[in-house]
Amino acid sequence: MSTTINAAWHLASRPAGLPTAANFAWRETTLPELADGQVQVRNIWLSVDPTNRIWMNDADSYLPKLELGEVMRGIGIGRVEASRDAALQPGDIVQGMLGWQRYCVGPAKALTRLPPIPLPLSAHFGLLGHIGLTAYFGLTDVAGAKAGETLVVSAAAGAVGSLAVQIGKNLGMRVVAIAGGAEKCRWLRDELGADAVIDYKVEDVAAGLQRTCPEGVDVDFENVGGRTLDAVLGNLKLGARIALCGLISQYNATAPEPGPSNLAHLLMQRGRMQGFIVLDYLDRAQEAAEKLIAWHLAGRMKYRLDISDGLASAPAALGKLFTGANTGKVLVKVGEE
Ligand SMILES: NC(=O)c1ccc[n+]([C@@H]2O[C@H](COP(=O)([O-])OP(=O)(O)OC[C@H]3O[C@@H](n4cnc5c(N)ncnc54)[C@H](OP(=O)(O)O)[C@@H]3O)[C@@H](O)[C@H]2O)c1
Repeated sequence: MSTTINAAWHLASRPAGLPTAANFAWRETTLPELADGQVQVRNIWLSVDPTNRIWMNDADSYLPKLELGEVMRGIGIGRVEASRDAALQPGDIVQGMLGWQRYCVGPAKALTRLPPIPLPLSAHFGLLGHIGLTAYFGLTDVAGAKAGETLVVSAAAGAVGSLAVQIGKNLGMRVVAIAGGAEKCRWLRDELGADAVIDYKVEDVAAGLQRTCPEGVDVDFENVGGRTLDAVLGNLKLGARIALCGLISQYNATAPEPGPSNLAHLLMQRGRMQGFIVLDYLDRAQEAAEKLIAWHLAGRMKYRLDISDGLASAPAALGKLFTGANTGKVLVKVGEE
């Protein structure tokens, strides 16, 4: 009989507005014995993502909703400690929905063995993985970004946004970054190479776009939605494309927000707005990883981690995404590598 003690955050209640620690319950249990086809994984890194908030709602999204009482869903990286499936061996490093917990016992077939990379393990979340794929394919595949075009990125100092800014530069675009706060804007301009910045906390975004994109926007990598998206819609060039990546300004809304008022510009400018979900690009992960690693090793692509120490910090880490307390990728270090 196994005597390993697991600790996990369970969904205790659904948030009304911002998620808080009160929405989670900490429980400790004994790990079950492995069944055929299962592995036991010790979790190392937990990725904390805005979509965690979506999963807490009482509604299905691109994944089924979480039921109350379930272990909070989360993407993690961990090390296999025991296996009853030939596909994975003890010592393997895997990624998957490991959950907000210290250990995950589950089917081996739900996990992906990570290939070795010439970078720290955490780069699988900071530069590669779902974050890198979202930024890379959102720009290249969804938006059809081209050299010489003007790109706008919102939530630009966050995980996806900071990569999208730099991918845009590497593709030869002129990049305008929108973020909240002087230090984030300085980082984007001075260290990541954004051509212009809009600090939406001190400048109206529509005015900022007129200042920085007097000829209009070719591509919008949209992470925020709401008023930010509306301002971009009002400043589109002919044939503009909007890669609708996320709507973080709406995730804690307690009532439906009014629709954008500038949709007429999408029509008049023959624009296209397309939503996408990174899961649809998982089979092309290698293609993006090769590019992102090469750019990083050549000094043309940085990533920044915002690390919280210990599983206990996960609810607070989630809150950072909605107050803008993070710069770069929010991670929780659950255990040693
Ligand atoms: N489509 C997909 O498959 C996919 C995959 C991954 C992520 N996403 C989406 O991509 C977006 C970014 O995700 P991420 O993981 O990279 O998070 P992130 O950008 O690292 O963190 C979220 C950032 O959003 C900004 N923000 C929060 N509330 C805001 C508001 N009301 N108005 C304006 N800005 C606000 C904050 O930055 P400021 O300080 O600048 O406000 C915050 O730092 C999210 O919308 C997420 O849902 C989509």
